Amino acid sequence: MLNRRKFLESAAALGILGILPSKIAKANFRLSKSGNTKGLPIIISTWNHGIAANAESLKILNEGGSVVDAVEKGVMIPEADPNNHSVGLGGFPDRDGHVTLDASIMNSEGNAGSVCFLENIVHPISVARIVMDKTPHVMLSGSGALQFAVENGFKQENLLTPEMKKKWQQWAKDKNYDPKINWENEPNKYHDTIGLLAIDDNAQMAGACTTSGMGGKIRGRVGDSPIIGAGLFVDNEVGSATATGMGELVMKTLGSFLVVEFIRNGMSPQEACEKAVLRIVEKVPEHKKFQIGFIALNKKGEYGAYSLQPGFNFALSADGKNMMIDSPSYF
Ligand code: GLY
Repeated sequence: MLNRRKFLESAAALGILGILPSKIAKANFRLSKSGNTKGLPIIISTWNHGIAANAESLKILNEGGSVVDAVEKGVMIPEADPNNHSVGLGGFPDRDGHVTLDASIMNSEGNAGSVCFLENIVHPISVARIVMDKTPHVMLSGSGALQFAVENGFKQENLLTPEMKKKWQQWAKDKNYDPKINWENEPNKYHDTIGLLAIDDNAQMAGACTTSGMGGKIRGRVGDSPIIGAGLFVDNEVGSATATGMGELVMKTLGSFLVVEFIRNGMSPQEACEKAVLRIVEKVPEHKKFQIGFIALNKKGEYGAYSLQPGFNFALSADGKNMMIDSPSYF
């Protein structure tokens, strides 16, 4: 009879090839040094909204688009979805009722662009892309970012949907700013940040990250997502990583950069994500109250994911499949 460890190891071998359903693939995930797949391209992204984003990214790659086009177009799907309440249109507003957006993008040449505290633009990721491609800068913020977007042809629109306005009015009665673990990921409510990483069939990597940030945040608050090295980092020679959850914890440890540096130093993406979460546990005393999740890819197309709390999941597109996998967690 197979003992538990042997069973999980054989489940691993099958699960990583996408042969077993995700429940068993999840068990594998806890033991394998890193996820592996048969070949490139591979696209990995945070939370359930990653499925539609991955599908769009893959379509772009299959049509001959570049890997940076693929990551941008992928995350534009949840940005434009009014039923997704933590990204773009329909995002949960700040304490004062304004939807303010953060986004970042990196390409395989090591270039980066980002915007933060941007209002009235559905696709902050595309503004970040233009910052990267057309300016000597990396980051634009607030009214300057909005001015830049409008100058580049972006249309302004109200991002506070009637549904979210109602929810915010209800919430604003006591303005109880008290983020809960996984509150971002309650079904049909506040799915958190989408971070999406891709490696194409030439092993070129890019990443994108976009969010409306913490619902009910103090006006002007910017999270980890637009901070290069915190919410997103891509080094085309080594690997890429992105983060979701309570951005303050990621910012205090420069989480995505840390994950990529751990990969550079020889760790698998799985080990690197685990070490970065451990760093948060060691360095940020308030970590028990919050959720953080990392996903990562290396140059070989191996992937990893790890979160502080249970409940984080991610979408993996590989080997002709696009599926959700539950992440292992520290607690
Ligand atoms: N991770 C998204 C945020 O904290 O804004």
